[in-house]
Amino acid sequence: MKSWIIALGAASALTVMAGGQALAAPAKPNRADSNRECVDSPGHVLTICVAADAKGAFYEVSRGKRKVIARSALGLVLKGDGPARADHITGAARATADATWEQPWGEQHFIRDHHNELRVHLAGAKGVRPYDVVVRAFDDGFGFRYDVRAIGSKTPIVITNELTEFRFVGHYDAWWYAAREKERDEYLYHRSPLNDVGLAETPFTIQGDGLYLSVHEAALVDYSSMNLRRVADNAVKADLMPWSDGALVKRTGPFVTPWRTVTIGDHAGALADSRIILNLNEPSKLKDVSYFKPNKYIGIWWEMHLNRSTWGSGPTHGANNANVRKYIDFAAKYHFSGVLVEGWNTGWDGDWTANGDRFNFTQSAPDFDLPALAKYAQSKGVNLIGHNETGGAAENYDNQLDAAMSLYEANGIHAVKTGYVKPNGTIIRTGEDGKPQSEWFAGQYMVRHHAHVGQVAAAHRIAVDAHEPVKDTGLRRTWPNLVSREGARGQEFNAWGRPTNPPEHLSILPFTRLLGGPMDFTPGIFDLTFGHTKVEERVQSTLAVQLAEYVVIYSPVQMAADLPENYEAKRDAFQFILDVPTDWETSKTLAGEIGDYVVVARKQRGGADWFLGAITDEHARSVPISLSFLDPKKHYEAQIYRDGPGADYLTNPYPLVIEKRFVTARDKLTLDLAPGGGQAIRFKALD
Ligand code: NOJ
Ligand code: CA
Repeated sequence: MKSWIIALGAASALTVMAGGQALAAPAKPNRADSNRECVDSPGHVLTICVAADAKGAFYEVSRGKRKVIARSALGLVLKGDGPARADHITGAARATADATWEQPWGEQHFIRDHHNELRVHLAGAKGVRPYDVVVRAFDDGFGFRYDVRAIGSKTPIVITNELTEFRFVGHYDAWWYAAREKERDEYLYHRSPLNDVGLAETPFTIQGDGLYLSVHEAALVDYSSMNLRRVADNAVKADLMPWSDGALVKRTGPFVTPWRTVTIGDHAGALADSRIILNLNEPSKLKDVSYFKPNKYIGIWWEMHLNRSTWGSGPTHGANNANVRKYIDFAAKYHFSGVLVEGWNTGWDGDWTANGDRFNFTQSAPDFDLPALAKYAQSKGVNLIGHNETGGAAENYDNQLDAAMSLYEANGIHAVKTGYVKPNGTIIRTGEDGKPQSEWFAGQYMVRHHAHVGQVAAAHRIAVDAHEPVKDTGLRRTWPNLVSREGARGQEFNAWGRPTNPPEHLSILPFTRLLGGPMDFTPGIFDLTFGHTKVEERVQSTLAVQLAEYVVIYSPVQMAADLPENYEAKRDAFQFILDVPTDWETSKTLAGEIGDYVVVARKQRGGADWFLGAITDEHARSVPISLSFLDPKKHYEAQIYRDGPGADYLTNPYPLVIEKRFVTARDKLTLDLAPGGGQAIRFKALD
């Protein structure tokens, strides 16, 4: 991996580690001459101040002259702490970093990490535990974390409250769904005044007065997921997903928390194009990730969701040898590198969400011959993708993890999709007293579980694509084999009809869920109606949208989710799926408003082509786009897949026009999008 320093800030020395992360050398503490320390972002866009007084520690944020976050509490309460809080600053240290690091794959090849860091030492009266708040200020947002060192290395601690607040200044609407509900993160977002928010998941995006902000976290490691609870006018507070015994976080010895992040921009696209979440994660801990290559895959999947075959045994068992071979042949014919097979193992019969502990991750169903199929696939240049649905029985999975990953590795499998379908809050953990305890899907227990799965998988050279996951907080930088995850309402909801995803869903995701990281949405459904006439029982989009999804939604693994025959029936449209890459040199959000529309352009990594995806909500619109993102020295053939005459997601979703135009960076295009429509373009470089 390459890494270099672009510029050195004057304020302190800077070292660059082999992995490419700029590291601020510990600076000497300043004289403690004030109870307020401030840091500007490198371009002086943001100013973040940390201060303390008799009421405790707090921070404030300005963007230019505009105050965006007013006095907001900081701090952690540990079990046994009295009511007194840190009330003064004892010192501060500053550093600056400007380094560019390389992703092994991603939405952007090289990422610049340019920030100023402020470390503030806070203390209180005798008996109050001192701690540091570390702030990193970027021009497009900031992050801060707690660094609590005044703890014996073997001392267990319990966090009983995280005091962190976000008291916004201004009038905002929020894009959110309620946290800790049954379906975890699989809800539609809704827009409401910030003051109507209850308990919300992050990324939590708000917009108002010409500003867009998104609160999230980075590097969620051995801690509980942060939700946000509205606590006052315009104010939300960290609300950590608790353990079943009420503890919020359990640790031993000194610890740092995840970063609390706020991305800020004056247009919606600025949120999507920010890289602060990745920058706040540690460099890769994996030396060799050569076993994973960004790819497109197909699978025995949609047919089960359409009830045409079953995961469980019986006459319509989907994962039977003949059917798997059919999919392998299709993958080989069209150069897909992976075939996902769900329902290949035992444990699916009966109510598997209630009996997840019956899943066996090494035992194949009788009509599925793993070694033979894996070999057959490899002989055709295809790899099987493993599937481990746990039904939320994490312990059962843990117990078999090493044996399972060993088996897959021995069969040349390098990617596994995991799943945790179980009502939120009912993940069973055997408590210290031997009795079953119910945990949240993203409390510290499951954060640890997913980290463990990723690490065991890495030891077996296997990449993980987690469904019903803990939300993405940029950990793929540190553990690149955590390649993708679900964590939102994906395409599967379009098969279930209760109701299916409305068109605006795809214009919200890029500015909310996708700010956390890649999503395995499973795009590309070509038979949009599959026998249904009611719109809320089938895919609510035009055909062009299904192509645009491959560009709008970033993931290094992208499924072509529909049945092989539906692709062969629309071979011309299918060409875009065959052509679109899953690894990018750079990505730009060209236009968009949350809940209305989005236009994204990405340049292929290792190639000169650009791709564009545009998706609108239920309203038709014409979006003018300058092609100035293209290389000014090149000529391109624009291969355009657009909504055809009369296309409308409600009445006529199929019309698609495929046309070619010659364009250069000096040209402009108007993207005409039908109601519930979209557009996908490949700009093929000609010279
Ligand atoms: C939910 C996942 O999101 C889906 O992709 C999978 O097919 C089912 N669980 C069964 O594991
Ligand atoms: Ca799911």
